[in-house]
Amino acid sequence: MAISTSTSCRNPTSSLYKAYISSFNPIRIPFNFDKFSVSPSARKPASISCYLPLEEKEPCKLKVSQRPDSLGRFGKFGGRYVPESLIYALTQLESAFHSLAGDADFQKEVNGILKDYVGRESPLYFAERLTEHYKRSNGEGPDIYLKREDLNHTGACKINNAVAQALFAKRLGKKRVIAETGAGQHGVAAATVCARFGLECIVYMGAQDMERQSFNVHRMRLLGAEVRAVHSGTGTLKDATSEAIRDWACNVESTYYLSGSVAGPHPNPLMVRQFQSVIGKETRKQAMEKWGRKPDVLIACVGGGSNAMGLFHEFVDDDDVRLIGVEAAGFGLDSHKHAATLTKGEIGVFHGTMSYLLQDDDGQIVETHSISAGLDYPGVGPEHSFLKDIGPFKRLSRLEGIIPALETSHALAYLEKLCPTLPNGAKVVLNCSGRGDKDVQTAIKYLQL
Ligand SMILES: Cc1ncc(COP(=O)(O)O)c(C=O)c1O
Repeated sequence: MAISTSTSCRNPTSSLYKAYISSFNPIRIPFNFDKFSVSPSARKPASISCYLPLEEKEPCKLKVSQRPDSLGRFGKFGGRYVPESLIYALTQLESAFHSLAGDADFQKEVNGILKDYVGRESPLYFAERLTEHYKRSNGEGPDIYLKREDLNHTGACKINNAVAQALFAKRLGKKRVIAETGAGQHGVAAATVCARFGLECIVYMGAQDMERQSFNVHRMRLLGAEVRAVHSGTGTLKDATSEAIRDWACNVESTYYLSGSVAGPHPNPLMVRQFQSVIGKETRKQAMEKWGRKPDVLIACVGGGSNAMGLFHEFVDDDDVRLIGVEAAGFGLDSHKHAATLTKGEIGVFHGTMSYLLQDDDGQIVETHSISAGLDYPGVGPEHSFLKDIGPFKRLSRLEGIIPALETSHALAYLEKLCPTLPNGAKVVLNCSGRGDKDVQTAIKYLQL
């Protein structure tokens, strides 16, 4: 599988931040930030208001784990670049977040649902046969543990964030919830919590994604959600997100936008990170119980980045814990058909935030490609890409009896490179971000099962 990594991410804001997509044209930002200012000639659509200053006026003294600053900035990244009509809703959300974060009753409610409905805490499982598989010929190698987010209700990490945000929607008096989804896991999580709390749910999903993840489309509909097909663009996550933002801008009074990852305008990256950070907090406690110290290495796949931030956040100030985010490199980093935003992207503004983006010389977003999107391209390339990717998928299924999501398989694939380099007994925790039920049809198509 082609993967790219951002390793030893001491600063999660610079190395783990992947841009989301925008319903608007992105603003291309020159690399030299010192000299940057918003020029009238920038490709800036009329509907975007640049709400925050582009430069940090004073160097921020916050520790990495305490970011973002009060303006929602992680250094030069983040911020809030949205149409005027959304500023009020985001400010309201930010106030609600700060007051509810310290509200004991709210926390109790969230924790109760995470325990009794989601099934937390998720186990930290010693993958004995996988560990054995990666032992060197002298019998040495790291110990591999899986943080079993796939065992959560609905089968992925996405539910942690969805539960807390649905409770937010209720507290804010919103009865209509919208969400975007790519693989369908966040859509299923949103539909699930809306059913649980009696909220109307509309999920935007790219038409192509609806076809290849039809299992999750049926799940969402069974749960009572309306799934709206998005045919524009490439009919994938970026187009679904664009439609969700359009809907929100038109219906902001009545509607709560339940976003699925740590992208988008402030306070979204902060909020989603906070709601997913239960993963890392549990991991620290479980590591202490199991082997009496912190893990040495944490690994997670990076799409928008929520499961990775959920695992990493607890450890970003620990210099002795190595953090590895694994991106999809599709056909290869030089192929222009990949989703390796952190590795190959340039800085820009997209979907309300400043981050790394895959963009062309005109600042237009380029089409991304990863394993599932690769099935659209006939011929040897996609098959080759798929078969490489399916290896870790099959390996975990056969060695541990755990069928991982294809997203998770990207992180698993990195074990091939990593394990030979680690000392004997090093403790590796890999975030098993979701289960692979949704990918079984894809696997059947390509594997001789
Ligand atoms: C199982 C699973 N893991 C990981 C991801 C990637 O998202 P993120 O990077 O926000 O965790 C997704 C996205 O749909 C997913 O379904």
